[in-house]
Amino acid sequence: MKHYLTTDDIDSVPKIIEEAIALKKDPYQAEQLGKRKTLGMLFFNSSLRTRLSTQKAAMQLGMQVMVMNFSGEAWSLEFEDGSVMNGSTSEHIREAAAVISQYCDIIAVRAFPTLTDKDKDEEEYVLKSFQKYASVPIVNMESATAHPLQALTDAITITELKTRKKPKVVLSWAPHPKALPHAVANSFTSMMQKMDVEFVITHPVGYELNPEVTGDTPIVYDQDEALKDADFVYVKNWSSYKDYGKVLHSDPAWRISQDKMALTNNGKFMHCLPVRRNVIVDDAVLDSPQSVVIQQANNRTFAAQVVLKQILESL
Ligand code: CP
Repeated sequence: MKHYLTTDDIDSVPKIIEEAIALKKDPYQAEQLGKRKTLGMLFFNSSLRTRLSTQKAAMQLGMQVMVMNFSGEAWSLEFEDGSVMNGSTSEHIREAAAVISQYCDIIAVRAFPTLTDKDKDEEEYVLKSFQKYASVPIVNMESATAHPLQALTDAITITELKTRKKPKVVLSWAPHPKALPHAVANSFTSMMQKMDVEFVITHPVGYELNPEVTGDTPIVYDQDEALKDADFVYVKNWSSYKDYGKVLHSDPAWRISQDKMALTNNGKFMHCLPVRRNVIVDDAVLDSPQSVVIQQANNRTFAAQVVLKQILESL
Protein backbone atom coordinates (compact mmCIF):
# COMPACT_ATOMS: atom_id res chain seq x y z
CA MET A 1 0.00 0.00 0.00
CA LYS A 2 1.43 3.42 -1.00
CA HIS A 3 -1.10 5.73 0.73
CA TYR A 4 -4.38 5.15 2.60
CA LEU A 5 -6.67 7.96 1.49
CA THR A 6 -9.90 6.08 0.79
CA THR A 7 -11.15 2.50 0.99
CA ASP A 8 -10.19 2.19 -2.71
CA ASP A 9 -6.54 1.99 -1.60
CA ILE A 10 -7.21 -1.50 -0.20
CA ASP A 11 -6.07 -4.25 -2.63
CA SER A 12 -8.28 -6.97 -1.16
CA VAL A 13 -10.87 -6.32 1.56
CA PRO A 14 -11.10 -9.98 2.72
CA LYS A 15 -7.30 -10.25 2.92
CA ILE A 16 -6.77 -7.01 4.87
CA ILE A 17 -9.52 -8.01 7.34
CA GLU A 18 -7.87 -11.42 7.79
CA GLU A 19 -4.51 -9.72 8.38
CA ALA A 20 -6.04 -7.28 10.89
CA ILE A 21 -7.65 -10.13 12.84
CA ALA A 22 -4.29 -11.94 12.90
CA LEU A 23 -2.65 -8.76 14.30
CA LYS A 24 -5.37 -8.57 16.95
CA LYS A 25 -4.46 -12.12 18.06
CA ASP A 26 -0.74 -11.30 18.15
CA PRO A 27 -0.30 -7.48 18.19
CA TYR A 28 3.52 -7.55 18.45
CA GLN A 29 4.14 -10.03 15.62
CA ALA A 30 5.63 -7.27 13.42
CA GLU A 31 7.25 -5.09 16.09
CA GLN A 32 10.58 -5.00 14.23
CA LEU A 33 8.98 -3.65 11.04
CA GLY A 34 8.62 -0.10 12.31
CA LYS A 35 11.90 0.10 14.21
CA ARG A 36 13.59 3.47 13.55
CA LYS A 37 10.57 4.66 11.56
CA THR A 38 8.50 7.67 12.61
CA LEU A 39 4.79 8.32 12.24
CA GLY A 40 3.77 11.98 12.28
CA MET A 41 0.14 12.53 13.26
CA LEU A 42 -1.25 15.94 12.30
CA PHE A 43 -4.61 17.03 13.70
CA PHE A 44 -6.60 19.96 12.37
CA ASN A 45 -9.60 18.72 14.46
CA SER A 46 -10.35 16.97 17.75
CA SER A 47 -10.08 13.22 18.27
CA LEU A 48 -10.05 10.56 20.96
CA ARG A 49 -10.16 7.17 19.22
CA THR A 50 -8.22 8.01 16.06
CA ARG A 51 -5.43 9.68 17.96
CA LEU A 52 -4.94 6.99 20.61
CA SER A 53 -5.61 3.90 18.49
CA THR A 54 -3.34 5.02 15.64
CA GLN A 55 -0.58 5.87 18.10
CA LYS A 56 -1.02 2.48 19.81
CA ALA A 57 -0.99 0.73 16.42
CA ALA A 58 2.26 2.45 15.45
CA MET A 59 3.88 1.60 18.80
CA GLN A 60 2.89 -2.07 18.41
CA LEU A 61 4.78 -2.00 15.10
CA GLY A 62 7.83 -0.57 16.88
CA MET A 63 7.43 2.95 15.41
CA GLN A 64 8.19 6.28 17.05
CA VAL A 65 5.24 8.69 17.02
CA MET A 66 5.05 12.49 16.90
CA VAL A 67 1.71 14.26 17.29
CA MET A 68 0.93 17.87 16.38
CA ASN A 69 -2.34 19.76 16.82
CA PHE A 70 -2.48 22.39 14.11
CA SER A 71 -5.18 24.42 15.80
CA GLY A 72 -3.28 26.55 18.30
CA GLU A 73 0.15 24.86 18.07
CA ALA A 74 1.40 25.09 14.49
CA TRP A 75 1.71 28.08 12.15
CA SER A 76 -1.54 28.59 10.28
CA LEU A 77 -1.18 27.04 6.83
CA GLU A 78 -1.80 28.54 3.41
CA PHE A 79 -3.06 26.09 0.77
CA GLU A 80 -3.63 28.40 -2.23
CA ASP A 81 -0.90 28.43 -4.85
CA GLY A 82 0.30 31.88 -5.84
CA SER A 83 -1.37 33.60 -2.92
CA VAL A 84 0.12 36.79 -1.49
CA MET A 85 0.49 35.75 2.12
CA ASN A 86 -0.13 39.10 3.78
CA GLY A 87 -3.18 37.86 5.72
CA SER A 88 -3.65 35.41 8.58
CA THR A 89 -1.68 32.44 7.19
CA SER A 90 2.00 32.16 8.07
CA GLU A 91 3.38 29.07 6.30
CA HIS A 92 2.63 27.48 2.92
CA ILE A 93 1.74 23.81 2.67
CA ARG A 94 4.58 23.43 0.12
CA GLU A 95 7.24 24.08 2.78
CA ALA A 96 5.32 22.53 5.67
CA ALA A 97 4.70 19.18 3.93
CA ALA A 98 8.26 19.03 2.59
CA VAL A 99 9.76 19.77 6.01
CA ILE A 100 7.54 17.28 7.89
CA SER A 101 8.49 14.63 5.29
CA GLN A 102 12.11 14.95 6.46
CA TYR A 103 11.09 14.16 10.04
CA CYS A 104 8.53 11.40 9.38
CA ASP A 105 8.38 8.20 7.32
CA ILE A 106 4.56 8.28 7.25
CA ILE A 107 2.30 11.30 7.75
CA ALA A 108 -1.26 10.85 9.03
CA VAL A 109 -3.69 13.77 8.69
CA ARG A 110 -7.08 14.62 10.18
CA ALA A 111 -8.85 17.56 8.50
CA PHE A 112 -12.64 17.89 8.56
CA PRO A 113 -14.74 19.65 5.91
CA THR A 114 -15.83 23.28 6.02
CA LEU A 115 -19.45 22.14 5.37
CA THR A 116 -19.90 25.57 3.77
CA ASP A 117 -17.74 25.27 0.64
CA LYS A 118 -18.79 22.06 -1.11
CA ASP A 119 -16.29 22.36 -3.98
CA LYS A 120 -13.36 22.92 -1.65
CA ASP A 121 -14.43 20.01 0.57
CA GLU A 122 -14.90 17.66 -2.39
CA GLU A 123 -11.44 18.62 -3.67
CA GLU A 124 -10.06 17.36 -0.34
CA TYR A 125 -7.73 20.33 -0.45
CA VAL A 126 -5.95 19.66 2.87
CA LEU A 127 -5.39 15.91 2.42
CA LYS A 128 -4.56 16.22 -1.30
CA SER A 129 -2.15 19.09 -0.65
CA PHE A 130 -0.25 16.94 1.83
CA GLN A 131 -0.20 14.13 -0.72
CA LYS A 132 1.05 16.52 -3.41
CA TYR A 133 3.81 18.23 -1.44
CA ALA A 134 4.93 15.49 0.98
CA SER A 135 7.48 12.93 -0.16
CA VAL A 136 6.26 10.16 2.18
CA PRO A 137 3.02 8.10 2.35
CA ILE A 138 -0.14 9.78 3.68
CA VAL A 139 -2.78 8.15 5.88
CA ASN A 140 -6.25 9.68 6.10
CA MET A 141 -7.37 9.95 9.74
CA GLU A 142 -10.70 11.48 8.56
CA SER A 143 -10.86 14.04 5.83
CA ALA A 144 -13.59 16.19 4.34
CA THR A 145 -15.32 13.30 2.59
CA ALA A 146 -13.86 10.05 3.92
CA HIS A 147 -12.95 8.16 7.10
CA PRO A 148 -11.38 4.99 5.72
CA LEU A 149 -9.76 3.86 8.99
CA GLN A 150 -13.21 3.86 10.60
CA ALA A 151 -14.68 1.95 7.65
CA LEU A 152 -11.98 -0.72 7.86
CA THR A 153 -12.67 -0.99 11.60
CA ASP A 154 -16.36 -1.50 10.85
CA ALA A 155 -15.63 -4.17 8.26
CA ILE A 156 -13.44 -6.05 10.76
CA THR A 157 -16.17 -5.80 13.43
CA ILE A 158 -18.92 -7.07 11.12
CA THR A 159 -16.70 -9.94 9.96
CA GLU A 160 -15.96 -10.96 13.55
CA LEU A 161 -19.56 -10.75 14.77
CA LYS A 162 -21.67 -11.93 11.83
CA THR A 163 -23.77 -15.04 12.43
CA ARG A 164 -24.82 -15.65 8.85
CA LYS A 165 -22.79 -15.73 5.65
CA LYS A 166 -24.43 -12.68 4.09
CA PRO A 167 -25.68 -10.45 6.93
CA LYS A 168 -28.13 -7.61 6.45
CA VAL A 169 -26.43 -4.30 7.30
CA VAL A 170 -28.45 -1.09 7.66
CA LEU A 171 -26.88 2.38 7.72
CA SER A 172 -29.40 4.60 9.51
CA TRP A 173 -29.33 8.38 9.81
CA ALA A 174 -30.23 9.61 13.32
CA PRO A 175 -30.90 13.12 14.66
CA HIS A 176 -28.21 15.48 15.94
CA PRO A 177 -28.39 19.19 16.80
CA LYS A 178 -25.24 20.16 14.88
CA ALA A 179 -24.20 19.91 11.22
CA LEU A 180 -21.96 16.86 10.91
CA PRO A 181 -19.78 15.69 8.00
CA HIS A 182 -20.57 12.89 5.54
CA ALA A 183 -17.18 11.19 5.86
CA VAL A 184 -18.14 8.25 8.10
CA ALA A 185 -21.32 7.47 6.15
CA ASN A 186 -19.48 7.78 2.81
CA SER A 187 -16.64 5.44 3.75
CA PHE A 188 -18.95 2.95 5.48
CA THR A 189 -21.08 2.86 2.32
CA SER A 190 -18.03 2.35 0.08
CA MET A 191 -16.79 -0.42 2.34
CA MET A 192 -20.13 -2.26 2.51
CA GLN A 193 -20.31 -2.14 -1.29
CA LYS A 194 -17.04 -4.11 -1.32
CA MET A 195 -18.31 -6.75 1.14
CA ASP A 196 -20.62 -9.75 0.83
CA VAL A 197 -23.51 -8.16 2.75
CA GLU A 198 -27.10 -7.10 2.03
CA PHE A 199 -26.67 -3.34 2.47
CA VAL A 200 -29.48 -0.79 2.85
CA ILE A 201 -29.37 2.92 3.72
CA THR A 202 -32.24 4.65 5.53
CA HIS A 203 -32.67 8.39 6.16
CA PRO A 204 -35.34 11.09 5.91
CA VAL A 205 -35.98 12.75 2.55
CA GLY A 206 -33.39 15.47 1.99
CA TYR A 207 -30.50 13.61 3.63
CA GLU A 208 -29.41 11.72 0.48
CA LEU A 209 -25.63 11.21 0.46
CA ASN A 210 -23.52 11.98 -2.62
CA PRO A 211 -25.12 9.79 -5.35
CA GLU A 212 -21.60 9.02 -6.65
CA VAL A 213 -21.00 7.29 -3.31
CA THR A 214 -24.34 5.54 -2.84
CA GLY A 215 -24.51 4.28 -6.44
CA ASP A 216 -26.92 1.33 -6.65
CA THR A 217 -27.27 0.86 -2.88
CA PRO A 218 -31.00 0.71 -1.96
CA ILE A 219 -32.29 3.73 -0.03
CA VAL A 220 -35.38 3.09 2.11
CA TYR A 221 -37.09 6.20 3.51
CA ASP A 222 -39.10 4.20 6.09
CA GLN A 223 -36.66 3.47 8.93
CA ASP A 224 -38.82 0.69 10.48
CA GLU A 225 -39.05 -1.05 7.11
CA ALA A 226 -35.27 -0.83 6.61
CA LEU A 227 -34.52 -2.21 10.10
CA LYS A 228 -36.58 -5.39 9.60
CA ASP A 229 -34.38 -8.49 9.92
CA ALA A 230 -31.16 -6.42 10.14
CA ASP A 231 -28.10 -8.14 11.62
CA PHE A 232 -26.20 -4.87 12.04
CA VAL A 233 -27.63 -1.38 12.58
CA TYR A 234 -24.95 1.22 11.89
CA VAL A 235 -26.17 4.58 13.13
CA LYS A 236 -24.75 7.97 12.19
CA ASN A 237 -25.89 11.51 11.72
CA TRP A 238 -24.87 13.57 8.71
CA SER A 239 -25.97 16.97 7.43
CA SER A 240 -27.70 17.47 4.10
CA TYR A 241 -25.48 16.92 1.06
CA LYS A 242 -27.80 18.58 -1.47
CA ASP A 243 -28.53 21.61 0.75
CA TYR A 244 -24.89 21.43 1.66
CA GLY A 245 -24.04 21.29 5.35
CA LYS A 246 -27.53 22.20 6.54
CA VAL A 247 -29.47 20.56 9.39
CA LEU A 248 -32.88 20.18 7.72
CA HIS A 249 -34.52 18.78 10.84
CA SER A 250 -33.63 16.58 13.79
CA ASP A 251 -36.77 14.45 14.09
CA PRO A 252 -36.51 12.45 17.36
CA ALA A 253 -38.62 9.71 15.77
CA TRP A 254 -35.38 8.59 14.04
CA ARG A 255 -33.55 8.03 17.36
CA ILE A 256 -32.69 4.36 17.88
CA SER A 257 -34.79 2.84 20.65
CA GLN A 258 -35.30 -0.67 21.97
CA ASP A 259 -38.56 -0.83 20.00
CA LYS A 260 -36.63 -0.17 16.81
CA MET A 261 -33.95 -2.73 17.68
CA ALA A 262 -36.77 -5.26 18.29
CA LEU A 263 -37.52 -5.08 14.56
CA THR A 264 -34.09 -6.49 13.74
CA ASN A 265 -32.70 -10.03 13.70
CA ASN A 266 -31.32 -9.53 17.22
CA GLY A 267 -29.18 -6.97 15.41
CA LYS A 268 -25.98 -5.46 16.72
CA PHE A 269 -25.94 -1.70 17.30
CA MET A 270 -22.85 0.00 15.84
CA HIS A 271 -21.66 3.61 16.03
CA CYS A 272 -18.22 5.10 15.34
CA LEU A 273 -18.37 7.25 18.54
CA PRO A 274 -18.48 9.79 20.01
CA VAL A 275 -22.25 9.41 20.37
CA ARG A 276 -24.79 11.74 21.97
CA ARG A 277 -26.84 9.62 24.35
CA ASN A 278 -30.62 9.97 24.13
CA VAL A 279 -30.28 12.07 20.97
CA ILE A 280 -28.87 9.52 18.50
CA VAL A 281 -29.67 6.43 20.57
CA ASP A 282 -31.41 5.65 23.84
CA ASP A 283 -29.37 4.66 26.90
CA ALA A 284 -31.30 1.38 26.95
CA VAL A 285 -29.83 0.38 23.56
CA LEU A 286 -26.32 1.66 24.17
CA ASP A 287 -26.15 -0.14 27.52
CA SER A 288 -27.66 -3.37 26.20
CA PRO A 289 -25.81 -6.50 25.01
CA GLN A 290 -26.87 -5.58 21.45
CA SER A 291 -24.48 -2.61 21.48
CA VAL A 292 -21.00 -3.46 20.18
CA VAL A 293 -19.58 0.08 20.15
CA ILE A 294 -16.78 -0.69 22.62
CA GLN A 295 -15.57 -3.76 20.70
CA GLN A 296 -15.88 -1.68 17.54
CA ALA A 297 -13.66 1.07 18.99
CA ASN A 298 -11.09 -1.55 20.02
CA ASN A 299 -10.79 -2.59 16.38
CA ARG A 300 -9.64 0.94 15.49
CA THR A 301 -6.18 -0.15 16.67
CA PHE A 302 -5.99 -3.14 14.36
CA ALA A 303 -7.40 -1.28 11.37
CA ALA A 304 -4.69 1.36 11.81
CA GLN A 305 -2.05 -1.28 12.49
CA VAL A 306 -2.74 -3.28 9.34
CA VAL A 307 -2.70 -0.11 7.22
CA LEU A 308 0.60 1.09 8.74
CA LYS A 309 2.05 -2.42 8.35
CA GLN A 310 1.17 -2.60 4.67
CA ILE A 311 2.64 0.90 4.08
CA LEU A 312 5.84 0.05 6.01
CA GLU A 313 6.21 -3.11 3.91
CA SER A 314 6.12 -0.96 0.75
CA LEU A 315 8.78 1.57 1.87
N1 CP B 1 -14.64 7.53 15.45
C1 CP B 1 -13.67 8.46 15.55
O1 CP B 1 -13.02 8.81 14.56
O2 CP B 1 -13.44 8.91 16.81
P1 CP B 1 -12.56 10.18 17.18
O3 CP B 1 -13.20 11.36 16.47
O4 CP B 1 -12.61 10.28 18.66
O5 CP B 1 -11.17 9.97 16.66
